[in-house]
Amino acid sequence: MDNIEAMQATVADMVQPGRGVLAADESLPTIGKRFTAIGVENTEENRRAWRDLLVTTEGLGQYISGIILFEETLDQKTSDGRGIPQAAWDQGIVPGVKVDKGKIPLALSPGDLITQGLDGLADRLETYKQQGARFAKWREVYKIEGDAPTPHGIEANAEMLARYAAVCQSVGVVPIVEPEVLMDGDHSIEKHGEVTEAVQHAVFHALHRHHVILELMILKPNMVLPGKECPKANPEEVAEATLKVLKRTVPAAVPSINFLSGGQSAEEATVNLNAINRLKGNAPWALSISYGRALQQPALHAWMGKEENRPAAQAALLERARLNHLAMLAQYDPSMG
Ligand code: 13P
Repeated sequence: MDNIEAMQATVADMVQPGRGVLAADESLPTIGKRFTAIGVENTEENRRAWRDLLVTTEGLGQYISGIILFEETLDQKTSDGRGIPQAAWDQGIVPGVKVDKGKIPLALSPGDLITQGLDGLADRLETYKQQGARFAKWREVYKIEGDAPTPHGIEANAEMLARYAAVCQSVGVVPIVEPEVLMDGDHSIEKHGEVTEAVQHAVFHALHRHHVILELMILKPNMVLPGKECPKANPEEVAEATLKVLKRTVPAAVPSINFLSGGQSAEEATVNLNAINRLKGNAPWALSISYGRALQQPALHAWMGKEENRPAAQAALLERARLNHLAMLAQYDPSMG
């Protein structure tokens, strides 16, 4: 299989009605925060046990078509001795990997952030491919605060995402392109929409400049929401604001848009996704998920680091995945949750 065929197969395996991506790629500090909240120590073995629990949830493949792993996890094994990427694929879940190395302030541009990790990326991807990864993820982060994100910050971030995506495609790995405009703060839903539109616009210009094949990538955007400190918008408003921005900026060639949950509660993330799919109309792309917290939180709290809670945690994950599956099909009703 050449690189193009490999990526076509990956997209075909990942983009299917009613299925989405589970983001389980928390970096060491981030998983540490999640574990602290449930009183679990951030050790390699606990991280392995948690991710083993996720990928071995029986039936998960019905609703989940891809899983984003953290670099360390590619090398870890399930309790029954399979590589974690293999265990995912055993139930039809394509393994992928987060390849960025996190954000730092953008130098000389107060308030703007930039993500690191391009140096040596092609070589790292070759290793990840041998470990089973077929797609990658890179996240740029934009915080609405003061003048940020500035036009310069938006350009610099778009350039990084496009360079990353081009490197991925050059070695046959499908890039998930994730520009996340944070919901932190007290901005209005309109402001979040304006910034998200400018960000997406810059990202697709940069992808074009860098010859990225849009058919062979997945976009992972934020939904358009009011700031976390503001009263919540209702799902119909979120759906309208989100679809307006995406229709203005995302070419029809992109096969799938997989939203991040970004700090919404599990329930909110499902209700909003359902509203988006109900309002979808003639939008050309699949509208699915790449949730981290909104899929994992209920399961983490059921687990609490205890082996005897494993079945309850797996049941909680499966149930969240099923409800989001219904939301992808616009068939969710809050009374189900
Ligand atoms: P959340 O859904 O928790 O925002 O995580 C998605 C993700 O992968 C962020 O990079």
